Amino acid sequence: MTQELFYENFRERTFMRRSRNKLIVRIGLVFAISLIILLSAFIINKFQILGADSPSGSVPIQVVKPPVKSEEKAIKDLIYSKEMLILVNKQNALPADYEPKDLTEINAFAPGRDESARYMRKEVADQLNLMLEDAKVSGNEVLITTAYRAYWLQKAIFDGNVAKKGSVEEANKTSAKPGQSEHQTGLAADLTTPGLNFEISNSFGETPEGLWITENAKNYGFILRYPKDKTEITGYSYEPWHFRYVGKDPANYIFEHGLTLEEFLLELNK
Ligand code: DAL
Ligand code: ZN
Repeated sequence: MTQELFYENFRERTFMRRSRNKLIVRIGLVFAISLIILLSAFIINKFQILGADSPSGSVPIQVVKPPVKSEEKAIKDLIYSKEMLILVNKQNALPADYEPKDLTEINAFAPGRDESARYMRKEVADQLNLMLEDAKVSGNEVLITTAYRAYWLQKAIFDGNVAKKGSVEEANKTSAKPGQSEHQTGLAADLTTPGLNFEISNSFGETPEGLWITENAKNYGFILRYPKDKTEITGYSYEPWHFRYVGKDPANYIFEHGLTLEEFLLELNK
């Protein structure tokens, strides 16, 4: 081997050795960085599981992520809507023995009425009492003629209306057959004022009291259940005196969009 060739080989070997060393150093660096990242992740995770105030050395608690606010609200709304959005009409009847739970006495009840109709579901009674107190504060005295009606009471009322109107068909325009009245749910009430002699009346909607209720009922979770020009959908003529509890969010939506409960439920289930 000539001296030149020897030096050439020597330079080549030196170059290769340096390249190999550089590669080893790089691999080492990548490995070290990965190790640091993994270790940090492990430490952070451990702290999250134990929580800051966990007693040291205790068994790690299984962390269940709390639902974010909107999820929580949606779940509550769902449970709530099942009970408060019950649909009772000519197509959806209740069994004769259906009785709502937690019936609670309401405050403003018209004189001379059947006391068994002085009740509503607890949540509804609370909101109704509040609404009628606020109405009174604003100078509008409103009272209830009937709220909850048991099947037997609805039957007596319907039979009375048939006798008065002359036919089942006529009576059924504003009076539900037993089992088909949402009064049986404990979610509906008929409103009147002293000015109307405590009677239910078509002119309730034009009285100052009726106007106040029509405007404000949504804020307490109530809707005008049988509006004008919706007979085809509800099956009943305009009843300015009949209000139904559905809860505040649904009531506001129904009011803003000019819907009936039937239309709202269709939209909800789309
Ligand atoms: N007035 C309504 C339709 C009822 O009797 O339930
Ligand atoms: Zn009614």
